[in-house]
Amino acid sequence: MAGWRVDRGRCSDTADRLAGERSVRPLRADDAAVCDTIVASLPHHFGEAGGRADCARAVRSQAGLVVSTGGEVAGFLTWRAWYGTSVEITWMAVRAGCRRSGLGTALIQSLVASVPPETRYLVVTTLSAASPEPGVSDGYAGTRIFYRRSGFEPIWEPAGWWNERNQAVVMVRALPG
Ligand SMILES: CC(C)(COP(=O)(O)OP(=O)(O)OC[C@H]1O[C@@H](n2cnc3c(N)ncnc32)[C@H](O)[C@@H]1OP(=O)(O)O)[C@@H](O)C(=O)NCCC(=O)NCCS
Repeated sequence: MAGWRVDRGRCSDTADRLAGERSVRPLRADDAAVCDTIVASLPHHFGEAGGRADCARAVRSQAGLVVSTGGEVAGFLTWRAWYGTSVEITWMAVRAGCRRSGLGTALIQSLVASVPPETRYLVVTTLSAASPEPGVSDGYAGTRIFYRRSGFEPIWEPAGWWNERNQAVVMVRALPG
C-alpha cells in the first residue's frame, strides 16, 4: 500500500452528526482526489493495485454521485448505462470511519432518483461468498448484505471474470417500470 494514506478519521465523531448533515450531488472532476483518499481508507476492500487504478480512472471519467457529511465528501459511486435499460454501479465506497451511517443507502437512493427514466435495472458486481476471506471480520460479506438491503439480488456467478482467488457475483435490482 505504499503511497496510500489510510485515513479513517473525519466521520468518527458521532452518529448524530452524520445523520443530520448529509447531501448527495453529482460527481465532479475536482472530487477525484478525495475519492482516492476514500479508497485508500479501505485497504482490505481495495487491496489490489489494479482495482485501485481502475477506480481512480472511473472517478475521473464516469458519471457518478458523491455524498457529503459535515461539508466533506465521505462516499461516492460511479456508474455507466448499458443498452438504455440498465445502469451498472462500477465503483462505490464510503470512507472507513463513515460507514454504517446511511451514506451508502443515500447514494443508492439518489442513484435510483437520478438515472434515466427508461432504466429498468441497476446492476453491480462484487465478490462472491464463494471466495473465502479467512480471518476477515469486515469484508465483502458485509458488502453483499448492504446490496441485499438496498434491493439487489444475486443472479449469476460468472466463471473466469476475475481470477482464481476472486469469484464475482452479479447482483441486480429491478426498478419500477
Ligand atoms: C458497502 C458500502 C458502500 C455501504 O455503505 P454504508 O454507508 O456503510 O452503508 P449503510 O450505512 O447505508 O448501510 C445500510 C445497511 O446495509 C447493511 N450493511 C452495510 N454494511 C454492512 C456490513 N459491513 N455488514 C453488515 N451489514 C451491512 C446494514 O443492514 C446497514 O444498516 P444498519 O447499519 O442500520 O444495520 C460501504 O460500507 C463500503 O464502502 N464498503 C467497503 C467498500 C465496498 O465494499 N464497496 C462496494 C464494492 S462493490
